[in-house]
Amino acid sequence: MDIQTKIVKVNPFDPDNELIREAANVIRRGGLVVFPTETVYGLGASIYIERAVHRIFEVKKRPLDNPLIVHIDNVDELEKLAEDIPDKAYKLVKKYWPGPLTIVLRRAKNVPSIVSSGLPTIAVRSPAHPVAMKLIKYSESPIAAPSANLAGKPSPTKPEHVVEDLYGKVELIIDAGETLYGVESTVIDLTGRKPVLLRPGAIPVEDIEAVLSEEIEIPEYARGVSEGRIALSPGIRYRHYAPDKELIVVESADYSELNNYALKVLAVAMELKKKKLKVGIIATRETKKVYEEKGFITLVVGSRSNLYEIAHNLFSVLREIDKADIDLAVSEAFEEKGLGLTIMNRLRKASRFNIIKV
Ligand code: TXA
Ligand code: MG
Repeated sequence: MDIQTKIVKVNPFDPDNELIREAANVIRRGGLVVFPTETVYGLGASIYIERAVHRIFEVKKRPLDNPLIVHIDNVDELEKLAEDIPDKAYKLVKKYWPGPLTIVLRRAKNVPSIVSSGLPTIAVRSPAHPVAMKLIKYSESPIAAPSANLAGKPSPTKPEHVVEDLYGKVELIIDAGETLYGVESTVIDLTGRKPVLLRPGAIPVEDIEAVLSEEIEIPEYARGVSEGRIALSPGIRYRHYAPDKELIVVESADYSELNNYALKVLAVAMELKKKKLKVGIIATRETKKVYEEKGFITLVVGSRSNLYEIAHNLFSVLREIDKADIDLAVSEAFEEKGLGLTIMNRLRKASRFNIIKV
């Protein structure tokens, strides 16, 4: 049964206090509010209202064993949520908060365990978005918020993505336009002796290593190549970011000879076309001509010289696959450096590991 969803437009840089107060009141009464962050839109509830947190899982159709990130507006809140906080955590927080870094720590006893799906740990971040910050402040509670998409779908970077997935299922959607980064926060586990990358995200892992002066362990599943049987970050076991149509990612060991690479991607598309399939190609500005000259539809995700642009557009393009007049999509791939690791993690998962190596 659907409920009434109110959509309010706000200025992302200087949100109207009254509108945010109204949204905070929804949270305080145990309702669900979709709000913008600098990464993607989040589906929020007060961490202290268990029924509301439970509804987050229901509404998203998210398995109950996939824990949520807790959003705070002030570093002091961290000590109410976590225990045994290592110096490393303070070092990172000082550098990156507010911003797209999530840290996993030991959970404090007073935090309802449903937030962490029963794990002894808790994931926390302080978002750098004026709307999110004000909403948390006025709610007078940390806000548990996964990305505001249906489980398995690409995360929402535009208000229309949220409407597609959650209209009629939440009390309020705050529309503040397109989000800045377009990919989710980087998640680092700080509970062990060595920091572990649980999910590559908007901050390149190399940058975090430089701040810590320490190597961060990058498990296979963080690269998006294996499902990861160890339930360190349970979210990695489930289907993620996937369009309904088939997506094939064409990977190479070397992208420096770009024209050669594009010709190999083209060859994959040509083979599929022979089977009477209408193929779309996720391409870059540098390569799209190669495919368009042969009559293929292209979805341009950005320029290879600017991985931020590619990350910013990626989820939107993944959603376009299902809307475009094509039967399936073939995507170019990127070197796993900097944001390239984040992009490849998302692409591999979106393809359900449907990868061709050339
Ligand atoms: O940028 C973001 O992080 C966005 C915005 C809304 O803040 N949020 C987001 O949440 O991406 P979600 O739920 O879609 O992804 C959270 C990830 C999942 O992979 C989950 O398994 C992991 O963080 N996670 C949460 N709590 C954890 C914990 N205690 N231990 C390990 N992993 C955890
Ligand atoms: Mg998500």
